[in-house]
Amino acid sequence: MGRLVNMSTSTIPPASRTMSLDPADLEGFRREAHRMLDDAIDYVATIRERPLWQPLGAQLRGRFRAAQPAEPTPLSAVYQDFLDTVRPYTVGNVHPGFMGWVHGGGTLEGMLAEMLAGALNANCGGRDHAPIEVERQIVAWVREWFGWPATASGLFVTGTSMANLIAVLTARRAALGDAVRSQGLGAEGARLTAYASAAAHACVPRALDYAGLGSEALRRIATDREQRIDLVQLRAAIAADRAAGRRPFLVVGTAGSVDIGAFDDLRALAALAAEQQLWFHVDGAFGALGILCPGLAPLLAGIESADSLALDFHKWAQVPYDAGFVLVRDAALQRAAFASRAQYLERAAHGLAAGEHWPNDYGPDLSRGFRALKTWITLRVHGTRRLGEMMAETCRLARHLAARVAAESELELLAPVPLNIVCFRYRGGDPDRLNAGIAAQLQASGIVAPSTTRIAGKLAIRAAIFNHRTQECDVERLVEAVLRLGRAA
Ligand SMILES: Cc1ncc(COP(=O)(O)O)c(C=O)c1O
Repeated sequence: MGRLVNMSTSTIPPASRTMSLDPADLEGFRREAHRMLDDAIDYVATIRERPLWQPLGAQLRGRFRAAQPAEPTPLSAVYQDFLDTVRPYTVGNVHPGFMGWVHGGGTLEGMLAEMLAGALNANCGGRDHAPIEVERQIVAWVREWFGWPATASGLFVTGTSMANLIAVLTARRAALGDAVRSQGLGAEGARLTAYASAAAHACVPRALDYAGLGSEALRRIATDREQRIDLVQLRAAIAADRAAGRRPFLVVGTAGSVDIGAFDDLRALAALAAEQQLWFHVDGAFGALGILCPGLAPLLAGIESADSLALDFHKWAQVPYDAGFVLVRDAALQRAAFASRAQYLERAAHGLAAGEHWPNDYGPDLSRGFRALKTWITLRVHGTRRLGEMMAETCRLARHLAARVAAESELELLAPVPLNIVCFRYRGGDPDRLNAGIAAQLQASGIVAPSTTRIAGKLAIRAAIFNHRTQECDVERLVEAVLRLGRAA
């Protein structure tokens, strides 16, 4: 079909342009934009020269209570405010000394990708356009990494919390049929039970909660010393629930536990799920991408048999926030859990509305940004081999840290180090209070920032090495600072 109208911009009457928000002085804007880009590159390139984190303080915080801007402010003034009040006070995960929680460091290419995606401003909820093909391309790559069939569907989401929720909702729909979507859980839904290890992330019970099943429908199964789910206890819990008239429907395996980076025996879980006819979901928030590292991939054996998988590109793969991802083995089941047709979203044989299945058929979001671009650019620019090598290096640094801890009599290693996370503490009088204080002081120092967790009830300083910029000197700084602060306490 040819174009009906050939309308050049010169045919648009000037009056219709007056409300455009595009800059009137494009050359001036261009100069400012170039300066901002240069600043942003320099900011990342010189990140070591600045404190990792610093508190805002009451006065500065007060500046975010300003009246709303009814009138325009020049871009240069707003940018200056950003430089003064926002940039120096961010969470700090670009900095190589950041070792808290599970945060990726981002990359300069990812930063550019955000800008490029911003120019397109593509709504990736649906329709027929290249950004959706970019996302489909990544779905195909992820399928290939894990040995999943072409029938598997994938979707970018905010993070693994959302990916886990999508998986639970898909498993719920698979268990209860279509009625759950129109009539709610009913008596059958109230019988559903799910299983995950005690080391599973807190977003797993939350997903059960949001799915209307209640967080207590998730049975938290004890782990062994290596934080892997105890299969004997899992089997016993399933049997007890069946005997009590409950209906087990889901087992969640963890590939990289948040506390120490432990991997459940996914092969055994897959076999048990098949035998018991349970949906097998894997929370692989960070650990799943270990598939790119030949030394780590064996930890994931069994993942090829899962029904669904959640992972984050914004963690170990260093894609800028946010870039969560969910993969479901049977695309039809994922659509059955989420798709609903509205007249204004009708699919067409041709034109912009072409394509039978759109991303919004696979999750709760209708409008969606172009998260796939920053992932596509990161994967292509660095290549999966190099990303895998970078992951291996973070594990080496963690082993180095564990060895340093073991060599210092004042320090105590609190958990095994199967991956890139080290939990340890300074030995002392009131160790919980002492180590919480040390962690807070380290963060305030602006040099290194671990977080804390509890291992068998003991408060641990937790150093999670996810940042590709972290080097041995950062690990040394952490050890020296803990020793110094512990001795001074
Ligand atoms: C094992 C695990 N699952 C789930 C999550 C939640 O991921 P997100 O913060 O991307 O929602 C995390 C976050 O650290 C995690 O480590």
